[in-house]
Formats: sequence, C-alpha cells, structure tokens
Amino acid sequence: MPAFDATLDELTFFREHDGEFLHFLEDHDFDYVYPEHIQGLSRCQWTPVEVCRKAALLLAPHPDTHVLDVGCGPGKFCAVGATTTGARFTGVEQRENLARTARRMLRQYNIDRVEIIHANITEVSFSAFDAVYLFNPFQENIFPALRIDFEVELKPTLYQHYNSYVKGQLEKMPEGTRVVTYCSDCEEIPECYEWKETAVGGNLRLWIKTGGQPPVTNPAEAGPRDGQSLAGDARTLSLT
Ligand SMILES: C[S@@+](CC[C@H](N)C(=O)[O-])C[C@H]1O[C@@H](n2cnc3c(N)ncnc32)[C@H](O)[C@@H]1O
Repeated sequence: MPAFDATLDELTFFREHDGEFLHFLEDHDFDYVYPEHIQGLSRCQWTPVEVCRKAALLLAPHPDTHVLDVGCGPGKFCAVGATTTGARFTGVEQRENLARTARRMLRQYNIDRVEIIHANITEVSFSAFDAVYLFNPFQENIFPALRIDFEVELKPTLYQHYNSYVKGQLEKMPEGTRVVTYCSDCEEIPECYEWKETAVGGNLRLWIKTGGQPPVTNPAEAGPRDGQSLAGDARTLSLT
C-alpha cells in the first residue's frame, strides 16, 4: 500500500480510537492532521512528535500535573503530551487561526485533558500550573525569516517584553516547578531554577525550581551562569 494511503488509513484509525495512539505516529505522518499551510510550517515551528513525547515525560512525571505550553501553535505538543502522559495540558496561543486549528484537531480526535486559550501570554498567570513548556515561542520577533503569518505585530522589543513576563511568572512559581525548554537560549529561565536533564542532542532541557539564590541586585555579586558552568550540572538523558 502506498505510504500516503497508509497515513490516511492510520489517521482514520486514530480518529475512531479517540486519538489515544496518535503519539505513535512518525512526525511527518502526524502533521497530516493539519491543513496544508500548517503542515508546511511544521519543520521550523512545531515540536517533532518524538521530542513532544520526551518533553511531556520530563514535565509530567505524575498524571495529576497541569502543564502550560507557552505559545501552543496548532496544539501538537499538548495533544501528544496528553495522550503520552495522562496529565492535563493548557496551550496559550496569541494567533486566533492557530488556536482554532488546535481546537478543531483536538475535537476531531477526541483528545481530552487539553484546553486551548486564545490570548497573549502576558494575559495569563502561571499560578494554576505545575510545569511549563517553552519552544522558543518569541523568536520570530527577532528573526523575521521565522515569521508565521501577519496576524500579529512582531518587533524586537516584544521579544524582551515577553521573555521578562515569562521570567517573572516562573520566579513566582513554587519549588519543584518543572520547566522544559526546546531549542532555547534560556534567557527566560530565572536563577532559582537548576538545569537537571538534557536530551535531544542538548536541545531539550529540564529545569526544576530549587529555591536558588535570592535575586541579585548588584550584577557584580552575580555568580557564573553560562553554558559551561551549567553543563557540569546536567546529565544526558536517554528516553527511548
Ligand atoms: C515556535 S512555535 C511553538 C508551538 C508549540 N509550542 C510547539 O512546540 O509545537 C511558537 C508559538 O508561540 C506563539 N506565540 C508567540 N508569542 C506569543 C505570545 N506573546 N502569546 C501567545 N502565543 C505566542 C506563536 O504564535 C507560535 O504559534
């Protein structure tokens, strides 16, 4: 049977079985759940299925975890995360067309325990969540080539503004809060989080809030916090 037919057959199977096995699909097959223009953005903008699975397992070691996806796009990470772990996922997305696409896909495959909120992340308090996923959500403000569409305003100052907001929210979360970053320079991770695990060739990082040091007011008093000093703390993970 040609691969394309197999994919359609698989998607029909997953729809009939309430999408609970969707996360077993290969990445390019999963993307068939979306309209063509959303599929075309996948390589640069949506987390690959395999990475979604690993990130979700790092974020939600218990099913009673509530995970926030900051800038959820068409809901790929939330859908794979919910079906992989049994935890609850909330995706916040500023683009209405992507939020609508995400809700439609979740409905079509009867995927429970996922809520999609159409909002700018700066309108959302992180206090209801135990864990946060960040796939470099604000990068298109500083790399125009990564622009998804023209629905929202983009500018470099927004990159700083959104990162500061996320950092402030992460600072207020309780000890034990888990954050996973994917392909991120981690500017938004506060000092009070420790880098605990690494996967996917160093691109996926688990951070856990440990209490850490009190906020530094004089930069001269700040200890080292570059990639080199952190690398000593991190272990390489194999989650296959
Ligand atoms: C790189 S994509 C990641 C999508 C998804 N998290 C994933 O991993 O597949 C970043 C998404 O964040 C959204 N986004 C960017 N800035 C945002 C903001 N301030 N508030 C809410 N969503 C935002 C973008 O519209 C885009 O859909």
